[in-house]
Amino acid sequence: MVGRGLWGCKNRLGKRSGRFGVAPAVCGGIMGTFLLVLLFIDSIELWATSLGMTGHVKEPTQGGLLPQSMPPTRPEEYLLMPSPLVCQRAKPYLITMVTTAPANQRARQAIRDTWGGEVEIRGKRVLTLFMVGMPADPTMGKLLVVEARENGDLVQGRFQDSYGNLTLKTLAMLGWVRRFCSQARFVAKVDDDVLFNPSALLRYLDHSHPLQKTSDGQPADLYLGRVHMRVRPNRDPSSKHFMPTQAYAGAVFPDYCSGTAYVLSRPAVLKLCLAAAAAPLPHPLPPEDVFVGLSAHAAGLVPTHCPLFSGGPAVPYGRCCYQAMVSVHHVMPSEMVHFWADVHTAAPCSWLGTRASLGVCKVRALLGTLIG
Ligand SMILES: *[C@@H]1O[C@H](CO)[C@@H](O)[C@H](O)[C@H]1NC(C)=O
Repeated sequence: MVGRGLWGCKNRLGKRSGRFGVAPAVCGGIMGTFLLVLLFIDSIELWATSLGMTGHVKEPTQGGLLPQSMPPTRPEEYLLMPSPLVCQRAKPYLITMVTTAPANQRARQAIRDTWGGEVEIRGKRVLTLFMVGMPADPTMGKLLVVEARENGDLVQGRFQDSYGNLTLKTLAMLGWVRRFCSQARFVAKVDDDVLFNPSALLRYLDHSHPLQKTSDGQPADLYLGRVHMRVRPNRDPSSKHFMPTQAYAGAVFPDYCSGTAYVLSRPAVLKLCLAAAAAPLPHPLPPEDVFVGLSAHAAGLVPTHCPLFSGGPAVPYGRCCYQAMVSVHHVMPSEMVHFWADVHTAAPCSWLGTRASLGVCKVRALLGTLIG
């Protein structure tokens, strides 16, 4: 598509340049702008997002869903978990908690075979664990016990694992991290159909010192991801995302990070847990990411947008693009293994290669969303 655009411009330029001196200049200008947009598409996205974000303006949580309920923190709340000392031993700088359904064994294995496990990146340790609930099927329950014994990376909360209970899964996850992995500087929550790239995240965090420390050197609050802005509550009673006015009266939710992948710093986890514990759980439970957004809002945490998180739309594969992205959503287990191998076979991409590939895959993702 890009190639054709450039050729079209060149042909016209060739035909007309004899008669009109202005046309080539205009054409060149358009092409130059197009290239600049392509190369700096993430900066443009960041700027556009900052315009749309509610920012620090605090709207009262009207009529509100007062986000709530103490996440379980006692060990007996977890049916399965690795050794309680797993974090004391692994000393992770970043702990990645993958929320996964009991049946998605293939997705978990693909993650273990690619970006998961216990690794050291840029001199920092990263640990990936899985968070599940209780399956309805007892056979599945037994398989989970076997899987947990073989891999030692499952945390199972005491709640029924279902789509409507994803908020409980996140609360159990935050509770577990706070209780058993409080030494980790950052916690990432990632869905099991996401190709996550801890190395790209650590690179981003390393280059974003203001995100990491307050002026007096304390670890700063961070709630990072793809920010969804001004999302309206679903008022259609037949939808699985239905949110009655009694549960949330506001016209829009506070800005929140897409639940596909987001990152919290240690102090942010603590604030979020306290805010979530401050009142009884709403009914029906809002979507997991909305609930986290509401709790973050109540805790005074402002989400930070990072263009390297893909959020909803599928991002077409590009080697350099995937090398740079922190998270890519809608990746099947077989694709995950394949993409990961391809991204890591060749040498790291050049600056220009990365910029161009990011630009192309973002434009393609955008076009894909527009076309549907
Ligand atoms: C969520 O889990 C609780 C506790 O196990 C259970 O009582 C409830 O029915 C579940 N809700 C949904 C929507 O699955």
